[in-house]
Amino acid sequence: MKILVTGGTGYIGSHTVVELQARGFEVIIVDDLSNSSIDVLDNIAKISGKKPLFEKFNLTDSEKTEAFFKLHNDIRAVIHFAAFKAVGESVEIPLMYYRNNLVSLINVLQGMIDNNIRDIVFSSSCTVYGQPDQLPAREDTPVQKAVSPYGNTKQICEEIITDTSITANVRSILLRYFNPIGAHETAFIGELPLGVPNCLMPYITQTAIGKRPFLRVWGSDYETPDGTAVRDYIHVVDLAKAHVIAVERLTGGKGKKNVEVFNLGTGNGFSVLEVIKSFERTSGVKLNYEIKERRPGDIVKVWADTEFANKELGWKAENDLDSMTRSAWKWEQALAKKK
Ligand code: UD1
Repeated sequence: MKILVTGGTGYIGSHTVVELQARGFEVIIVDDLSNSSIDVLDNIAKISGKKPLFEKFNLTDSEKTEAFFKLHNDIRAVIHFAAFKAVGESVEIPLMYYRNNLVSLINVLQGMIDNNIRDIVFSSSCTVYGQPDQLPAREDTPVQKAVSPYGNTKQICEEIITDTSITANVRSILLRYFNPIGAHETAFIGELPLGVPNCLMPYITQTAIGKRPFLRVWGSDYETPDGTAVRDYIHVVDLAKAHVIAVERLTGGKGKKNVEVFNLGTGNGFSVLEVIKSFERTSGVKLNYEIKERRPGDIVKVWADTEFANKELGWKAENDLDSMTRSAWKWEQALAKKK
């Protein structure tokens, strides 16, 4: 069964490709390599023994997308990762985010409809919940107005897919990720942030390896046990495995509604300081950090209610925080050796 993975050379995409291949799926990747490297294809092959099919273009190009779908008329389902994801940049250049994230989804859905491909798994985010009134966040927790154009594109994409599923013959699973961190245990693939990372985990590992002088901990006066903000960190490999289950659910006709939404988290919240402690424990490196003011736009705390995903998908995150920080460090060290 051939699966199209858009954004398949990216961080979550590449880990998902490996898990799909392990379950016997054939994978074709479309990626414009705007935030990833062509080397990822060989690195995937080092793990799975199979280099995925690959085409480089940007999915906002409707003609290329149409031609692609016509040529590859044996695609059975789509996992759509391809998107811009830097929150700050989306505030600076909103139209670039709206154009890229919305138009590429529209073109993919059109290609699917024109070629009778029914099943799509979409890469959404817990950002749609904002700061929920009640924790843990459940799938039916009301979606809140997005704080950034990036977050808004995730909400609008969920709506585009939902509206499309009402009239067209499309079935979808929307996966709302909490905070994916870590890397494949082989350290052949992992997160490759361009420039200065915004996210916590790559900032920690880059500080520890000496690329950054110190980590800034954004805020220590939150209403949380140690005052630093709390998130539900999930190992990227656990996340990747959920995509395979979602694809099998759709292609096996096991979905219960045309649009299904699942939270992908562990159900546990950890503070920034707890992540740092875990990193220090698993790496043996003492991290240089300083407490700073709160970062504008950050929420205080969020973690997932995972009951629905656990029960309905039969999926549960297996890796604990130490396993996440250990693998992230192994990946950073592997990157340092390559240079
Ligand atoms: C961010 C995005 C979210 C997106 C997710 C993708 C915002 C507001 N949200 O989530 O929409 O889906 O990335 O992974 O940007 N921290 C530090 N120092 C740092 C970096 C982070 O203290 O140098 C703290 C943050 O304040 C936060 C926690 O670490 O409390 C996690 O931050 P981050 O990894 O950036 O993820 P989110 O902000 O939760």
